[in-house]
Amino acid sequence: MKNLSIGIIGAGNMGLALASGLAAGSLTELIVSDPNPDKRRAIEQLGVMTETDNKALVERIEVLVLAVKPQHLPALCRALAPAVARRSPLVVSVAAGARTTDIGRWLGADLAVVRAMPNTPALLRAGTSVLYGNALTTSAHRQAAETVLRAVSEVFWVEDEALMDAVTAVSGSGPAYLFLFLEAFIKAAADVGLPEPLCAALAIETTLGAARMAKADPQAVADLRRRVTSPNGTTEQAVKSFMADGFMDIVARAVTAAARRSQQIGDELGAL
Ligand SMILES: NC(=O)c1ccc[n+]([C@@H]2O[C@H](COP(=O)([O-])OP(=O)(O)OC[C@H]3O[C@@H](n4cnc5c(N)ncnc54)[C@H](OP(=O)(O)O)[C@@H]3O)[C@@H](O)[C@H]2O)c1
Repeated sequence: MKNLSIGIIGAGNMGLALASGLAAGSLTELIVSDPNPDKRRAIEQLGVMTETDNKALVERIEVLVLAVKPQHLPALCRALAPAVARRSPLVVSVAAGARTTDIGRWLGADLAVVRAMPNTPALLRAGTSVLYGNALTTSAHRQAAETVLRAVSEVFWVEDEALMDAVTAVSGSGPAYLFLFLEAFIKAAADVGLPEPLCAALAIETTLGAARMAKADPQAVADLRRRVTSPNGTTEQAVKSFMADGFMDIVARAVTAAARRSQQIGDELGAL
């Protein structure tokens, strides 16, 4: 693949993670802008160029990555409209909730826009991202967007943007669900008498090992659970207790609430 010139606007958690992942590869030329000098210094320490002028950045790139908070996106895009109209870059937004039609409207042009939902493990280059490309994205655009997100995550695509609310509720917010489960698991380990250093270590290593088994055979998660649940054994007692307390419904209600909120955030942004 030819060298891509990529500009990232916003050097916060996600912008820094993307810059760091991309800087570790060799396929891209990169510029990052952020108003904060400390954040720019962190980027420069990666050997990456920085900018303070977003319009000047747009003049120099082919792929424009928007990595600011969603509420900052409308004003940022409107300010960039003239530069974007001249350059017609591929726009890749990682902003939660912002729909491709709204991003195009704020930028004032018919542009190829890819909306990406990465998640927090991207900070360790262990993220999961789901991408949606609007009707103007070509396969070259998709490849370029994948190059950006693959620097920090596994990449999956959906062909219906409405699914991005469900994606946000599953992989976007998902790390927090697992942290919550781990918090409860670690506390429960202490409650059954384990010394403190063991509680977190056993809960986290068990989670990692179980996730690896599940990843090896994703269709068989329920089967894996059944296989380690011997009749009348200890696991069966725990699983029965979870089920009696409505564990499946608790998880389903939580994920549905997150999807509903993602849709509301999209509606709120769409009104701006
Ligand atoms: N963090 C995650 O795990 C995660 C996961 C999925 C999606 N996302 C999405 O990624 C985006 C960024 O999230 P984040 O956690 O990285 O936020 P963040 O840490 O607040 O980073 C945003 C950065 O953009 C800067 N910024 C604001 N306006 C700017 C402008 N006009 N020009 C240049 N830079 C500007 C901010 O500066 P100031 O601080 O000075 O405003 C800040 O440094 C969000 O839209 C979020 O929805 C994040």
